Amino acid sequence: MPAEQAKRLAVRLGFVGASLGRHYQERTPEGKRTPERAYDGLTVGDLPFRLYFEAIAERTGTGHCGRDTYASLVRWNVGTLKVLRGDETMAVLPGVFDDGKVRSYTGTPGEERFFLLVKKGEAVELAINDVLGPLTGDEGVLLGAEALDRVRLAIELLVALRELFRDFAALPPERSMPTDQFLDVFRQFAVHWTPGDVPPSGALDPEALKRDFLLGLNLDGYESNVRRLFPALLTAEREAIESMMAEPTLPERVLAGLGRSPASLREADRGDLVRLVGEHPGLVDWYLLLAAHARAAGAHLMLSKKFLFKPQQRRDAAGLGDRPLVSNRSGTTGMNETFLERITRARQDHLLAPLRRVITRETPETTTNTGVSSPISVSRMG
Ligand code: HEM
Repeated sequence: MPAEQAKRLAVRLGFVGASLGRHYQERTPEGKRTPERAYDGLTVGDLPFRLYFEAIAERTGTGHCGRDTYASLVRWNVGTLKVLRGDETMAVLPGVFDDGKVRSYTGTPGEERFFLLVKKGEAVELAINDVLGPLTGDEGVLLGAEALDRVRLAIELLVALRELFRDFAALPPERSMPTDQFLDVFRQFAVHWTPGDVPPSGALDPEALKRDFLLGLNLDGYESNVRRLFPALLTAEREAIESMMAEPTLPERVLAGLGRSPASLREADRGDLVRLVGEHPGLVDWYLLLAAHARAAGAHLMLSKKFLFKPQQRRDAAGLGDRPLVSNRSGTTGMNETFLERITRARQDHLLAPLRRVITRETPETTTNTGVSSPISVSRMG
């Protein structure tokens, strides 16, 4: 079977496997403890369902795991997306269907919009990483004109990412995703297929993970947290992230190029910081890049609160409790609201944060606030 066909089949069978798992676990007392039994007696030809799925996953040649995951559910499922800046193509994120459709668990538009939103986010993030990636080879010239052009472009893309999140949150439920449908239907398909496997989650968005390792995230245990997700990533993603973890981050390289340590920046007095920024005005751009990254994370946190944590808190307050299958008190890989808040704060507390005392310029809240509409757009191809 050709790899592209195997990918299409992995998407479709992923929905089948998720549905079987969900309905088995809902119907069977204690079924959550034995998720693999959902597939008992189900064969494709001679092969038991999960072995067949594994064989298909292997045929994709990507290192896809033996269950549905972010790559098949979102990236392969949604058609190819193109990120444009005016007429210029910044990134293309391919899908494996060209029928213009988004497959979903129940065929409701809210689910399709959710998948499209997440893939659009990943596409913009891919553009950001493509713009910043070459700078990891540019030791020493990170404050040069060319590098700073890249930094400013990445800021523009991060502002567009934030806007994407905020625009979705501002839509009425019938044009985004009705809360009850998200909590009671959509999320309930993110069940385990086997005990301890990793269900699909936005946390498996590899471009977001890469950006954290490019820009740095000072949070104890973050690396091991990401490694915990590795089984659900593709081989190329695991390899790229692993090698980024071993390299210094871009802000670390900027400081090293100036002969400054992170500690010396934290301990510097105001006069020292003013002098530093005066001598190296490009530091302002780097600072604004990290601030834009943190703000995008803040907008994502807002989404998670609006669509998940707050509605569940309202249910708790009304004594309605949680769903028995997939809890709505945390994400599908176990991140709760407090963790998402901590990770967002860690992005705000970036390496160049001490410069906040002397930098007055800020990234625009949104591109539309500036009166000029964003030149960044994401469109579907085909
Ligand atoms: C309504 C929209 C969204 C909601 C309700 C939402 C909710 C969540 C939740 C609950 C988590 C914790 C996940 C876990 O435990 O596995 C999470 C994590 C994450 N989501 Fe989303 N999300 C949304 C949109 C998006 C989009 C569009 C993207 C991609 C651009 C995305 C990327 C991520 C990433 C990278 C994480 C890991 C945590 C982090 O890096 O901050 N999410 N999200």
